[in-house]
Amino acid sequence: MRSRLAAMSCLMLAPAMAAAQPSPVEEGRHALDTRCARCHAIGAEGASPHAEAPPFREIVKRYPPENLEESLAEGITSGHPDMPEFILTPEEIGAVVAYLNTLIVK
Ligand code: HEC
Repeated sequence: MRSRLAAMSCLMLAPAMAAAQPSPVEEGRHALDTRCARCHAIGAEGASPHAEAPPFREIVKRYPPENLEESLAEGITSGHPDMPEFILTPEEIGAVVAYLNTLIVK
């Protein structure tokens, strides 16, 4: 939460800088792309590389991204028999939540 507010106030204070840096949504996509995409489909379409891993666009229907924030901070271990534990930084989590929100079909 704090990181998202910080990111937002940064965008408001320094629009010129924000243009030069990747947006939170792009950063979030990148974080998922490097850590999760070898198993989960992270985009708006396409099947997951790992047959049992639900695409993120399905996960966000089950868990609102804000509710995932805590699990991401603690590291999701349950439901991940095949995968090493991962920990995201607070900045990455804010970005990931911003990205996941773009997957929700309103
Ligand atoms: C090595 C493969 C692999 C990687 C890498 C991986 N996952 Fe998963 N994930 C799975 C599988 C398989 C499941 C389904 C497990 C099940 O249903 O028992 C799953 C399920 C999930 C679920 C749903 C859990 C539930 O309770 O329904 C979430 C959320 C999730 N993964 C998030 C992530 C995130 C975020 C990342 C990257 C930071 C990630 N996963 C990386 C394999 C992976």
